[in-house]
Amino acid sequence: MDGNGRWAKARGLPRTAGHTEGEENLASVVRAAVQRNVGWLTAFGFSTENWVRPRTEVRHILGLHEKLFGRVAELNELNVRIQWIGRPFGSPDARTPKYVQRAIRKAIADTAANTGMTLTIAFDYGSRAELARAAQQIIADGVPATIETLQQRLYLPDLPAVDVLVRTSGEMRISNFLLWQIHASKVYFTEKAWPDFDEHELDAALSLLQ
Ligand code: IPE
Ligand code: MG
Repeated sequence: MDGNGRWAKARGLPRTAGHTEGEENLASVVRAAVQRNVGWLTAFGFSTENWVRPRTEVRHILGLHEKLFGRVAELNELNVRIQWIGRPFGSPDARTPKYVQRAIRKAIADTAANTGMTLTIAFDYGSRAELARAAQQIIADGVPATIETLQQRLYLPDLPAVDVLVRTSGEMRISNFLLWQIHASKVYFTEKAWPDFDEHELDAALSLLQ
């Protein structure tokens, strides 16, 4: 979900206003994806690399994740199950603060029975950390390294391979997102900043799958 900062700057607003708008837009895109019978939607909210941003911006983004994971009533109305992908809370390098952990745990528990779309939020997520951990576990478990044994040791082994990867705001790169899972995915690049990514954009991305 890239381009929140530029979206705000273009309107003479602080970057934080762009993030706020971006969170609102995710709620809209979730609704649109449900209408289109998307089974799995995964959004990159905050990366292992994003912690170096100014403290006030990071704090604002953390608050928005608390808000996002608090949208349980909306998710239940849409029959959406939410989950999270990122550095496991107990691991030494994990950085998700306690209050965000609580919001994540509660949202997962309170939407677990929903049978529609699965919405996965990547927070404190980095693909290389995920793959390094899977490799370490393979060594610790003393099993042969195969596609299957590695897949089983990903943060979310049941997350299916990505069909279409979307990158917004004119950036033509991947930025450490689901590197294993996008092995065969289509890629949709758009000039639109994330807050402007609407249902027409979603349709354009999905049309790559036909
Ligand atoms: C995406 O918007 C939000 C996060 C990465 C948390 P950006 O903050 O990257 O916005 P730009 O790229 O500066 O426009
Ligand atoms: Mg950016």
